[in-house]
Amino acid sequence: MERYGHFINGEWIEAGEVVSVMNKYTGETFGEIYEADEEIVNKAVQNAYDSYETSELSADDRFNIIIKAVTLIEKRKIELAEVLIYEAGKTRKDAVTEIERGISTLRASAEEAKRITGQGVALPNSTDLGKLAFTVRVPVGVVVAITPFNFPFNLTVHKIGPALAAGNAVVLKPAEMTPLIACKLVEIFKEAGLPDGLFNLVNGRGTHTGDYLLKNDLVDMYTFTGSPKVGQLIKSKTGIRKVALELGNNSPNIVHKDVADLKRAAELCVTRGFSNAGQACISVQRIYVHEEVYEQFISYATDFTKSLVPCSEDNPDGDVGPVISEREALRIESWIDEAVQQGAKLVIGGQRKRTQFEPTILADVTQLMRVVCEEVFGPVITIQTYSNIDEVLQKANDSTMGLQVGIFTSNIQIIMKSIRKLKFGGVIVNNVSTYREDAMPYGGVKNSGIGKEGPKYAVLEMTEEKLIVLDA
Ligand code: SIN
Repeated sequence: MERYGHFINGEWIEAGEVVSVMNKYTGETFGEIYEADEEIVNKAVQNAYDSYETSELSADDRFNIIIKAVTLIEKRKIELAEVLIYEAGKTRKDAVTEIERGISTLRASAEEAKRITGQGVALPNSTDLGKLAFTVRVPVGVVVAITPFNFPFNLTVHKIGPALAAGNAVVLKPAEMTPLIACKLVEIFKEAGLPDGLFNLVNGRGTHTGDYLLKNDLVDMYTFTGSPKVGQLIKSKTGIRKVALELGNNSPNIVHKDVADLKRAAELCVTRGFSNAGQACISVQRIYVHEEVYEQFISYATDFTKSLVPCSEDNPDGDVGPVISEREALRIESWIDEAVQQGAKLVIGGQRKRTQFEPTILADVTQLMRVVCEEVFGPVITIQTYSNIDEVLQKANDSTMGLQVGIFTSNIQIIMKSIRKLKFGGVIVNNVSTYREDAMPYGGVKNSGIGKEGPKYAVLEMTEEKLIVLDA
């Protein structure tokens, strides 16, 4: 069993209370971490600060280091996927996909390292050549990355890759439930030749270690993925410092009567509602199906759900794995029960064995049920019917969150209206809300967050545009 401390200035330090990391399939201890206290946190931040101040890496150096890290990850893909299977409860398929996505995110980050430029600035009130103005993009300095349990590799890489590509120093605090893959990542970057101190890691719980990170004034920027509640807390505690927040969603997906292929739409909704056990901010959750195709959609979705193979304690080779903890499983179960009591129809699923849920479809739901108006973050999809496109666009918008939305239709007028009316960071036409290529801009409106991820966009967030004026 592996036990990790805190990676500071290129070395592991073992200090603090020991916290267990569970195997999410069996509930047994899979690894352990030490929890960083204030002294350790401050040491990590100070190291990042000092290393940033003295770093002399060129863009080419940063490109080469990140690409070397990619090569090392590619060689260890199967071993790294195994870590994800057990610490995060992933299916083997989801774990391998996540490592592959992480590789592609890192490659895109490396490429961005060589594209960071400023721009010329026009000075309409100055005589020609009397003054010259332009901007340069400079790193923000010390970036703290606080990462979630649901994609502990790729969502970590989405922060670390652009931060290092842009020339920052980083302190990472991975989710305490899934820290092991991040511990492997810092070692990989060291092996890839990243100078000590530019990538530090502190382990521990958000309420303890995370809080100390928020207090440290040497930090220039916080980048966080997680719940809106914690996002708001981070924003309230970090003053006027930069933050990038990628928060939740209760993703709507609209299936109009003129959808080109209803069966494909149903299969996509099912696949992306249940992949990663529904634990993605853009998982299909609220499905609105036009009344003329409602029954047929439910029939396709049910048949496809029946074909999914659930994982079990000793078999991660299925289609749907466990959720992250028993506490979360109990919460999800209580929301399903509550919806059924309020009149929802349990079409399929609903049974739970410890953290393993049957993929569950609830039909005839209403907007006020918790499984609709809050983020379920579990393998549950809800379906309701509509008759009018304006009504359904309004229902899709009827949420405190707005990350991504999917709409299936063949009508260009409806497509254009949806793009105009839907209040989301991303509108996905003829595919589901879950559609994400890692190079795309990704981020929401309303309580879904601030700022964009996707390496090109994250580099902009993690740099400052500095104005230079030369006066002859
Ligand atoms: C998220 O949960 O926001 C990330 C989803 C993804 O990258 O697929």
